Amino acid sequence: MTPAISFQQVGKTFQTPRGPLQALDGVSLDIAQGEFFGLLGPNGAGKTTLISILAGLARATSGRVEVMGHEVVADYAAARRSLGIVPQELVFDPFFSVRETLRIQSGYFGVKGNDAWIDELLEGLGLADKAGANMRQLSGGMKRRVLVAQALVHRPPVIVLDEPTAGVDVELRQTLWQFVARLNREGHTVLLTTHYLEEAEALCGRIAMLKQGRIVALDRTSALLGAASSTMLRFKTDDALPADLAAQARITGRIAQVKARDAADVEQLLARLRAAGVRVEDLEIGRADLEDVFLEIMQGGRA
Ligand SMILES: Nc1ncnc2c1ncn2[C@@H]1O[C@H](COP(=O)(O)OP(=O)(O)OP(=O)(O)O)[C@@H](O)[C@H]1O
Ligand SMILES: [Mg+2]
Repeated sequence: MTPAISFQQVGKTFQTPRGPLQALDGVSLDIAQGEFFGLLGPNGAGKTTLISILAGLARATSGRVEVMGHEVVADYAAARRSLGIVPQELVFDPFFSVRETLRIQSGYFGVKGNDAWIDELLEGLGLADKAGANMRQLSGGMKRRVLVAQALVHRPPVIVLDEPTAGVDVELRQTLWQFVARLNREGHTVLLTTHYLEEAEALCGRIAMLKQGRIVALDRTSALLGAASSTMLRFKTDDALPADLAAQARITGRIAQVKARDAADVEQLLARLRAAGVRVEDLEIGRADLEDVFLEIMQGGRA
């Protein structure tokens, strides 16, 4: 079957006042129809650049990109029609209402009599009571919901979400994911970038990790998790960890996480914390999650 998305040896070099900047370097990746695929990577890794090329908003310096078999430059209109893109940046016309915005977008894709689907989108994204509100009257999170609705208005087979949940509250995230998961079950392909790795872990069947414009990991989510160092010791503390432990720990505010190979390792870690006078609260022993895997790969431990 034709892949939903195919990137073949894609390179992108930006000319900047300080010289050329290589944002993408030989990215090759096929996403099959029906996949829920995650594209992860730190700030500046090249995720949005790759999506811009897919959307025909930027030109690759080298390589070839296809959406549902349509090459994105030579066959732009067909490629673009196959795609629904939720951009990372909030862009909209402040003078139109939510419903008008969605009708205009339908018109852009030549879809007529789309109100039933627009209503379903408004409902599914928790916007039903805002249909008549002007875009400028919406909060940031609501504007993002409209961007999602706008991307889906022509029922594209391929849905691309570039950090759709940045600045979005917990309830909407759940609504949004339920809605997108439903579309995926109905056969739509989903490509997602996010910095919320627990979302990617929960939703994506396969994940690619980009680092400085190159793919450094590409596998099924379960395989990425399975290959990670298995056990993590998590606890809260107000005390400083001994320097060598601090160097290998992942610390988020008061929460520290340290990798442990096995039970003996756990015992030894606890003994060292006790010896250093570190008071440990809420101790948990758990499996490594996608964030652990991500950090390990980005720090070059594994590729
Ligand atoms: N129009 C542009 N001109 C010059 N450099 C650019 C341009 N767009 C992006 N870049 C550079 O390309 C690299 C990749 O940027 P990109 O926006 O693709 O990253 P990203 O992975 O989406 O990051 P984030 O997680 O922050 O959204 C960065 O170094 C960025 O500064
Ligand atoms: Mg980006």
